[in-house]
Amino acid sequence: MPIRYSYWNIKMMTKGFKDKLGEGGFGCVYKGKLRSDHIVAIKILNKPKANGQDFINEVATIGRIHHVNVVQLIGFCADRSKRALVYDFMPNGSLEKYIFSQEANMSLSCKQMYEISLGVAHGIEYLHRGCDMQILHFDIKPHNILLDENFTPKVSDFGLAKLYPTDNSIVYVTAARGTMGYMAPELFYKNIGRVSYKVDVYSFGMLLMEMAGRRRNLNAFPDHASQIYFPSWVYDQFKEGKDVEMGESTEEERQMIRKMIITALWCIQMKPDDRPAMNKVVEMLEGNIELVQMPPKPFLTPQEMPTEDN
Ligand SMILES: Nc1ncnc2c1ncn2[C@@H]1O[C@H](COP(=O)(O)OP(=O)(O)OP(=O)(O)O)[C@@H](O)[C@H]1O
Ligand SMILES: [Mg+2]
Repeated sequence: MPIRYSYWNIKMMTKGFKDKLGEGGFGCVYKGKLRSDHIVAIKILNKPKANGQDFINEVATIGRIHHVNVVQLIGFCADRSKRALVYDFMPNGSLEKYIFSQEANMSLSCKQMYEISLGVAHGIEYLHRGCDMQILHFDIKPHNILLDENFTPKVSDFGLAKLYPTDNSIVYVTAARGTMGYMAPELFYKNIGRVSYKVDVYSFGMLLMEMAGRRRNLNAFPDHASQIYFPSWVYDQFKEGKDVEMGESTEEERQMIRKMIITALWCIQMKPDDRPAMNKVVEMLEGNIELVQMPPKPFLTPQEMPTEDN
């Protein structure tokens, strides 16, 4: 069970909210220090709706989750209307810096990128199947992958969707969460399929594609017009039997990139049923990619996009 802190404790730990690490959809995150000198990141939830007991029950559940590729919750605060979550601090920050930054000191090797993608896949697989209840993340994206001192990736912010219950259907909740560019199509179009764990598989696929390509999937300023939507461009390249040049140099690196891209193309299939489960994703990333079939083209052309939302 995670430790309960008073709001006063939280204030002390953050030295009066002095060191802000960033801000997201749920509130601000501050750096803090426990009495044991352990460094933490504290997320102060803005406008929490859940009643205190629901929040504590949910935190107890999240607090039971332990996995090398999942950020550890170590405490919480439920002090009148104040709610906060206390996590292990991740010194290397979040993954988007390393994918999208042009700075040389931020760059990771192909091998490191590949290892990170595999770690993330393991983390999501655990959330989906490894613990007593199934946890759907609903917001897998580079910002929610944190890196510890050894660049071991940790999935963060799982379970938060549940801390924001609304009176509406689950689909409404999930559609309200998530980030454009990573959200599965069934969250927008009901006729594509049921909302399930496959929404995380889709988001992971988009993330994996960005890790392999080291660029945003949707790029308004590409070198060539055909590269505006990177997954579509890369699919056509592969289909023609061409390799894509990502700055890798050895055959081993080319193999890793190829694996990441083909696996990603499976994950971002339009129909949830066509996407693999996360244990299969891990297998594809770890195994011999020559044994994996090229997936069907994962996206509809704009003319084929469903227009009716019913
Ligand atoms: N445990 C942590 N250790 C170190 N930095 C963290 C930790 N948790 C969050 N951060 C940093 O705080 C910032 C804000 O995180 P936050 O989760 O609030 O926003 P987000 O991930 O961009 O969006 P979302 O609300 O969808 O999760 C992130 O940029 C992240 O780098
Ligand atoms: Mg986050």
